[in-house]
Amino acid sequence: MEKVRQPLLEEYQLGDLRLKNRVVMSSLTRGRAMNAGLVPTALMAEYYAQRASAGLILSEGTWVNPRSIGFINVPGIYTREQVEGWKLVTKAVHDKGGLIFSQLGHIGSASHPDFFDGELPAGPSAINPKTKSFTPEGFKDSLTPREFTVTEIKQTVQDYKHAAQNAKEAGFDGVEVHAQTGMLIPQFLSLATNQRTDEYGGNIENRARIVFEILDAIIEVWGSTRVSIKFTPVAISNVGIMTPDVETIPLFQYILKKLSGYNLAYLHIVGPAEDLTGTPVEVLQDNYFSHFRRNYSGRLMANMGFTQESGNAILNEGIADLVSFGAPFIANPDLVERFEHHLPLSESNRDTYYTGGENGYTDYPRAVDGSALA
Ligand SMILES: Cc1cc2nc3c(=O)[nH]c(=O)nc-3n(C[C@H](O)[C@H](O)[C@H](O)COP(=O)(O)O)c2cc1C
Repeated sequence: MEKVRQPLLEEYQLGDLRLKNRVVMSSLTRGRAMNAGLVPTALMAEYYAQRASAGLILSEGTWVNPRSIGFINVPGIYTREQVEGWKLVTKAVHDKGGLIFSQLGHIGSASHPDFFDGELPAGPSAINPKTKSFTPEGFKDSLTPREFTVTEIKQTVQDYKHAAQNAKEAGFDGVEVHAQTGMLIPQFLSLATNQRTDEYGGNIENRARIVFEILDAIIEVWGSTRVSIKFTPVAISNVGIMTPDVETIPLFQYILKKLSGYNLAYLHIVGPAEDLTGTPVEVLQDNYFSHFRRNYSGRLMANMGFTQESGNAILNEGIADLVSFGAPFIANPDLVERFEHHLPLSESNRDTYYTGGENGYTDYPRAVDGSALA
């Protein structure tokens, strides 16, 4: 039988990195850093190594400083011990011939005083984002945060840079800035959560300023082609009041135009998980990724609900350069091999997404052992 061409399985040149395929494992918070120091463990190294046949792995979101925390058992990348823990992970992935970027995140106002000895988290403005934080006592409602001072914003940018330096020392191959809706950066972008009157609030340019300050700081460490950023411009559920607004489209046009001059590793765009009809971003409903392709001249990574078929199709059409898969990697450590051999995918257990030690983490079997595939 003639083999069907699968662009997902083709090699790809990402700057100076050679990816063995175009299947990217997107970031998955799994809450397995179950220790007081939020240090990555040998179990986490095993989990990532199991998935090293991906062309590129993006680590779970990691905290850039102690004030960025807002979800239990998520590892950080701001202490010596954490760097040592990450070395286990990067070595395990490299030993299996894989590549891995570190995802750097800060949750801003979507945290809870339980993480800060009773002190309020900080955000762009003193506005409750109306989301939930996963605390040691379970999910709790967010509160009205403290407003960041300009000095604190500048320090936070430096903390991203420090985290990027740590990622380099820990042996990562690059970094992705976590700017999914709900996190600190989109809290600056959103009209609902940013009502500052200084240079970080007001017009589009001011609200987007922090994006470029963080990227510029990190690029000093890594060079642009090892740096990337992930946005979810049209997230609606689970983002509290940070839903798309009337300025979302022009805001992203501004960001994309400016980023086009950056020569980043890639721009990671998450698609809509829901129907956009009746929202301020309704016009993006059809041809979503084409819109971003048109407005951004660099490499584009597409994400959200892709399958083997739709992933191959979007690459074939030239609308994206890389496709990332999140949930499918949970129960299918050998996702790439399954695509290669047209094998069915296993279903993951949601009860063990964020808890459970090795249960529902490293115990998902491969479809077939390598020798049987020859
Ligand atoms: C359990 C779980 C944890 C996630 N954690 C993160 C995260 O830490 N950082 C991030 O950017 N996205 C995170 N995501 C989102 C995924 O990376 C991806 O964008 C989303 O699941 C859509 O892709 P998919 O349809 O292939 O799963 C998570 C998703 C799931 C299911």
